[in-house]
Amino acid sequence: MPLYKHQLSDDCSSLYIKLVSESSLRKTMDRLAGNANLMIVSDLDHTMVDHHDPENLSLLRFNALWESKYRSNSLLVFSTGRSPTLYKELRKEKPMLTPDITIMSVGTEITYGNSMVPDDGWVEFLNQKWDRNIVSEETRNLSELTLQSDTEQRPHKVSFYVQKDKAQDIMKSLSTRFKERGLDVKIIYSGGMDLDILPQGAGKGQALAYLHKKFKAEGKLPKNTLVCGDSGNDAELFSIPDVHGVMVSNAQEELLQWHAANAKANPKIIHATERCAAGIIQAIGHFKLGPSTSPRDVMDSSDAKMETFDPADEVVKFYLFYERWRRAEVEQTEQCLANLKAVCSPSGIFIHPSGSEKLLRDCVSLLRTCYGDKQGKQFRVWVDQVLPQQVGSDSWLVKFKKWEQSGCNCYRRAHLGACPSDMVGWSRAKQSNILVILASNYLAIQTPHLYFSHHHPLLPERKKEWVSGCSTASSSCPSPPPASSASTWPCSQSSISPPEIITK
Ligand code: GLC
Ligand code: MG
Repeated sequence: MPLYKHQLSDDCSSLYIKLVSESSLRKTMDRLAGNANLMIVSDLDHTMVDHHDPENLSLLRFNALWESKYRSNSLLVFSTGRSPTLYKELRKEKPMLTPDITIMSVGTEITYGNSMVPDDGWVEFLNQKWDRNIVSEETRNLSELTLQSDTEQRPHKVSFYVQKDKAQDIMKSLSTRFKERGLDVKIIYSGGMDLDILPQGAGKGQALAYLHKKFKAEGKLPKNTLVCGDSGNDAELFSIPDVHGVMVSNAQEELLQWHAANAKANPKIIHATERCAAGIIQAIGHFKLGPSTSPRDVMDSSDAKMETFDPADEVVKFYLFYERWRRAEVEQTEQCLANLKAVCSPSGIFIHPSGSEKLLRDCVSLLRTCYGDKQGKQFRVWVDQVLPQQVGSDSWLVKFKKWEQSGCNCYRRAHLGACPSDMVGWSRAKQSNILVILASNYLAIQTPHLYFSHHHPLLPERKKEWVSGCSTASSSCPSPPPASSASTWPCSQSSISPPEIITK
């Protein structure tokens, strides 16, 4: 009989939570066969996410790079000052990937995986020397402090706004008051306006050190860690032993000052010349941590060699082409579609999350109907959690999520496919302000061909079925297929639009 949390006593229920959180951490660690090649620990606002780039181009470039080259062998960690509430809001507004680990509320909350299971060990540790009531008492009625919104007040974080010119004095006097009350706290000033009070053992750096310790204990310490930040609450990330660090070009004064005073001689920390996610890509290249060319910047991969065939890369390129086709950024030629079909396995299938299947080549044919339908619109496509699994000597099963953004900043997830006909049906059925589609897809790729599918929760049974000869079953599929495509490789170089230029 399964035990449910509500049936347990308090002691048992905390044990239950502990077990859940341990197994989530284990899942995160075990997702990779060995040690992660790279663990990126990145701040979000003004680091991964550029709020001055309405097109989100550097973020989309990072996403394509991560999914094509790093997802299956590396770990993505977001470390933000935002509470879970505001973090979730940001994910609705910006084209973000799903991280393996999410650290929120300035290193006071650590969660694992897609379902964001909290690390209770971290909570217990922070509880040890913390008294939130003392913080509230000592900060009450201080005219320099303006309390932030309720969502940003968390169990181990009390947050205010403070004017820049008052910040130093108020931090000094607060720290004296807390000492007098016997409370050891950390006070952090960020972005020239935010003041956070946390337990001394908390913070983004401490949270990363805690993760490193856990990974090390399992013999799974990542080979390299790159920390990325722009403001005061990121400073301690850069003092964790052995990490590489990038302060993005647009970093705040308080972080640059901290660096000048504490880490100037450290060659493992750079101040990028590029903004936000473009600065992260720059750092990957600078420190030679792995590939640093985003597929979004590659104009012609038609001569890519099959020895370097990588299913994740193929999926990323396929959807880049799909985006450019619909935005009319590639030339509309029959040759383009023919080339694309030629690289598809004759028996390749795409399985839609609804369960419907279609031959990949038929999906490609459907692209004819949607050329340029997003021309002049803010239409973007990005794939997320692209995880290929080799299921035969020359075939792969690739699970991935596909997101689409079209027009404005309102997003919604929907388990819908990506084919033009689906899109039409979908946007008629729903309101036009529903703008993002999330689809869980499975793709099987067979060298030198592509072999597609689009999937739904029945995968384990389905997988067997179609991996062992899906070609005929798929062609009888009754429902509309999802369309998909490759990035630039089906078309000649001349037909590709110029690379996106990241402006400061
Ligand atoms: C985020 C949080 C805020 C915090 C700031 C700096 O903006 O929402 O509460 O003060 O980061 O850490
Ligand atoms: Mg920031």
